[in-house]
Amino acid sequence: MHLPARPDRNLALELVRVTEAAAIAASRWVGRGDKNAADGAAVDAMRLVLGSVSMDGLVVIGEGEKDEAPMLYNGEAIGDGQPPAVDIAVDPIDGTTLTAKGRNGAVSVIALSERGTMFNPGPCVYMEKIAVGPKGRGAVDITATATENLKELAKRLSKTVQELGVVILDRDRHDDLVAEVREAGARILSISDGDVAGAIATSWPNSGADILLGIGGTPEGVIAAAALKGLGGEIQGRLWPRHEEERTAALAAGYNLQQVLTTDDLVAGDNCFFSATAITDGEFLRGVRYHDFGVTTESLVVRSRSGTARLVETIHRHDKFTDFSTAGI
Ligand code: FBP
Repeated sequence: MHLPARPDRNLALELVRVTEAAAIAASRWVGRGDKNAADGAAVDAMRLVLGSVSMDGLVVIGEGEKDEAPMLYNGEAIGDGQPPAVDIAVDPIDGTTLTAKGRNGAVSVIALSERGTMFNPGPCVYMEKIAVGPKGRGAVDITATATENLKELAKRLSKTVQELGVVILDRDRHDDLVAEVREAGARILSISDGDVAGAIATSWPNSGADILLGIGGTPEGVIAAAALKGLGGEIQGRLWPRHEEERTAALAAGYNLQQVLTTDDLVAGDNCFFSATAITDGEFLRGVRYHDFGVTTESLVVRSRSGTARLVETIHRHDKFTDFSTAGI
């Protein structure tokens, strides 16, 4: 019997070239007020470099349907077609508004796992999320209230609830959640965008973030799951249709809206890869910096099987990267 080859090399070390290229391309657009141009440049650069990776890749989470996304569309085959067969989730910019406004926290991210292991969000744009770091794993439950989860987590971390740092996206839909967390006495670390980085912060040493709560993008949830697997944290999700039409479409497509999606449901198995490169400065990575030789990037490269998280600082000589960094300009 012919068994498909398993990804046994650290593909994340190749993927870092992909997020570096996207971050450099996006960095040209920092603060220029045009998030679509920034995103377009990042997509073009990411697609160009991703095509050079030796793999049989399938985009499970991309830029949308083929008719609206000419590149990195859901279902697109990528790589040179050689084994291993893998699922790919891309977010060329998590934080398009942050990039366009020149604010901190924008990253370019990609996740990759064995074929058939990545959750396909279908029509579900948002999900409720709860994410914690390695010590908090198993202490939280998305079906419980925020208050209960904060109490359990505090116990597990040997902290008081007042000492907990709770990451929440600043959105009107979170008004009740924010009121509840404040009532419980925990500290809120409000982010205006970028909940992949927000989820990772819960698993990052001394970030001050203990838990992420709230509703954010489903694609970002899947990508965060790949990162947290490697970092030893946990994420749970529950699909959150925005309106009746989306609910009907999700049910018709066979999604169970009550299901608690565990880290393993979002990315199954223990062989996934994650790479993030900062576009603008963030909690644990500095953004793209321009200097006399070219640019320097900082990336986080994670592999779940080995549980390794590498910080990669790269100097890109300007005479070498211009072919993709100017894409879209
Ligand atoms: P984009 O970069 O695609 O705009 O996503 C940023 C983001 O903040 C994600 O990190 C988050 O999951 C999602 O948007 C939340 O969606 P919304 O901005 O619609 O509330």
